[in-house]
Amino acid sequence: MDLFDAIRQRHTTNGLFADRPIAPEHLRTILEMAARAPSHFNSQPWRFVAIEDAERRAAIAAIAGDSMRQLMAEGRFVNQYRRFFRFSAAEAEQSHDGIHFDTMPGVLKPFAKYILTERGGQVMNTFQVPRVLGNDARKLVASSPLLLGIALDRSLFQQGELTGLYTSISLGAVVQTIWLSATAQGMGLQFVSTPQEIPEQWARVSNLLGVPAEYELILLLRLGYEDPTIKRPTIDWTSPQRKAVEELAFRETWGQPFADRTAHGE
Ligand SMILES: Cc1cc2nc3c(=O)[nH]c(=O)nc-3n(C[C@H](O)[C@H](O)[C@H](O)COP(=O)(O)O)c2cc1C
Repeated sequence: MDLFDAIRQRHTTNGLFADRPIAPEHLRTILEMAARAPSHFNSQPWRFVAIEDAERRAAIAAIAGDSMRQLMAEGRFVNQYRRFFRFSAAEAEQSHDGIHFDTMPGVLKPFAKYILTERGGQVMNTFQVPRVLGNDARKLVASSPLLLGIALDRSLFQQGELTGLYTSISLGAVVQTIWLSATAQGMGLQFVSTPQEIPEQWARVSNLLGVPAEYELILLLRLGYEDPTIKRPTIDWTSPQRKAVEELAFRETWGQPFADRTAHGE
């Protein structure tokens, strides 16, 4: 697959993956490509844990499901990230950012706008939204043929230090490399961030992966082969919209419009 095609086709897979294991050569390619990512002073501050064992995946999935249910029931997640939620195509089109909740059970639709707001917690609990989302999250993680943990060297990943910032930037490069390599091989990927929102749950995941004290578990990803015929989750979102280059970029100095130049550079 051409690099530009992979960049354009890369997206978050919210639904189930095809029910088949990852070909060993596909996993190796992903890791070999990841190892090519840039890092400050070529420090390569990352380590990867690839989990394919069904029991270990189920144990991690139980933590992910529990975390999702807990975060939704307490309203923490919603309060923190509400500013990114869009409830209509028009809203998403207008901001060109955020995530658009475009799939939800019929009974919830009349409450769509209200449900993920601060006072919507009661409605959410009445319709058992936390339970539904928790169950979905558990199933999604348990059935993913590959979970990939990424850990960073604590001596480099120091909060508030420049070395920490450089390590974060390096992490971004490695994640995008993994994602594009997966896309190029017909695979999809989703971040499993919910356990990370709850320190005790994240510590449990880290223990299951056997991450040593010198490393900090930073990311958990689920991967598998994409299958467009698979039904979407009960409550789901998409986020293909992007801001235009003209809104994101300036020419020479901040605020100067980025108008395309002619071949003569005028
Ligand atoms: C640091 C980070 C954390 C993320 N956490 C989650 C997550 O917990 N669950 C999820 O489904 N997507 C997660 N995402 C994916 C973003 O929501 C997604 O990349 C964004 O909405 C753009 O959509 P796209 O990936 O389909 O292009 C995360 C992305 C990043 C970079």
